Amino acid sequence: MTQFLTVAMPKGRIFEEAVELLRQAGYQLPPEFAESRKLIIDVDEEKLRFILAKPMDVPTYVEHGVADIGIAGKDVMLEEERDVYELLDLKISACYLAVAGLPNTKMKDIAPKIATKYPNIAAAYFREQGEQVEIIKLNGSIELAPIIGLADRIVDIVSTGRTLVENGLVEYEQIVGITSRLIANPVSYRMKDERISDMVERLSRII
Ligand code: PRP
Repeated sequence: MTQFLTVAMPKGRIFEEAVELLRQAGYQLPPEFAESRKLIIDVDEEKLRFILAKPMDVPTYVEHGVADIGIAGKDVMLEEERDVYELLDLKISACYLAVAGLPNTKMKDIAPKIATKYPNIAAAYFREQGEQVEIIKLNGSIELAPIIGLADRIVDIVSTGRTLVENGLVEYEQIVGITSRLIANPVSYRMKDERISDMVERLSRII
């Protein structure tokens, strides 16, 4: 009997690209899939259960084993360092993490402030640069911080670059390239190896 596979999906930007990728891999997903407000969607024909989580929470569901696999951005993987297997680079939702700020400004010499949704990545980055900074954790609209004087710099995702441009900010350094990854719970990976390997194979073929 085919086992049910629970997949943690990131709500928001990555979601539609991830759904499209699964469809290309041959999974029959209902047409109203993307519009639904349901947080758990069962697709019985495919023996798949999808749980829709905040992107930053996907590795948490997978680590705790309530989801067997998940789709998570590399940014989230680097920030959270969860005990999960990274199976595949899905090459979707490509973007990068960068340091940005107001143009033609130098960082304060003493304890410059860095606003970010990624306190761990930002702290590690500036530590490597030998710079002592104060990290200010925000949950979104990071670009506001330098404009209204909350921070000297931000560490944030740049995708098209529009948000920076439209808010009069410039990029100072690129930190790391980001794409979405297929991740798995280590126990599920052993117990449901056939189903998970099948998905990895089908996805690998179309990436
Ligand atoms: C992300 C990111 C930037 C923006 C970059 O924010 O934090 O603000 O997208 O995209 P761009 O380079 O194409 O303009 P998101 O829209 O996810 O919302 P948030 O502000 O709540 O983090």
